[in-house]
Amino acid sequence: PNPPILFSFPSTDSLIESLALFILRAQKDSLDKKGRFTIALSGGSLPKMLGGLIGNPAVKWDKWQVFYADERIVPLNHPDSNHLACTNLLFSKIPIPPENIHAIDPSLLHDLEELSDAYEKDLIREFAQKDSARFPVFDLILLGMGPDGHTASLFPGHVLLTEEDRWVAYIEDSPKPPPKRITLTFPVINHAARVVFVAAGKEKVDTLNNVLDYPENGLPSARVKPVFPGQLYWFVDDTAAEKVQYP
Ligand code: 6PG
Repeated sequence: PNPPILFSFPSTDSLIESLALFILRAQKDSLDKKGRFTIALSGGSLPKMLGGLIGNPAVKWDKWQVFYADERIVPLNHPDSNHLACTNLLFSKIPIPPENIHAIDPSLLHDLEELSDAYEKDLIREFAQKDSARFPVFDLILLGMGPDGHTASLFPGHVLLTEEDRWVAYIEDSPKPPPKRITLTFPVINHAARVVFVAAGKEKVDTLNNVLDYPENGLPSARVKPVFPGQLYWFVDDTAAEKVQYP
């Protein structure tokens, strides 16, 4: 894989602004090539980091197909829902067709196996014919990193770190509440054209140092290594990057 590209910003506002420009370039590249833009979003602080896109007429929202890198198994209007966070902070403020947003099926909350299969089928509908490869090739996957080094719902020491086949998997034992979640797997994340981590604030200092300077420690976030020609980027603030030696 290509080595990660690290961008560090003096403030959250400058990070948000540059991230918006980066996403616009990725969008343009994808639209020029195939007329659509496939993206996966995360929860946590990520949705509000996309604020730089709101109101920008260059964003072709009707060409976006939005999936979730991970989702909590709760009703779509539950405060823990990543979909609700993205709706409140982004979708409610932009002209995106609702059918372009791929949420989990709320009628399947009682059956995680079925729910994750259904989400995988949703991905297959979007990707399978075109990229008839073994894994979908997202144009862009946006990830956060937890203080324990998890990303999406891939947690340290969890058996899912070695998943090799499924596109979407579920867990019932997330150390970060709520316990039940679905997540894209590493093979999916690592087949994306671009993966961007967004990490800011002092609670990320040690983890960012660990992941970027000691990837051999194998924290989940350090296992994001997109296969060539995929590229990994880190958008961080100077606070989070305080101990980072990389590159
Ligand atoms: C989730 C998120 C999760 C998040 C990290 C970082 O559903 O919990 O998708 O993976 O991205 O925990 O969270 P912060 O951005 O809030 O630090």
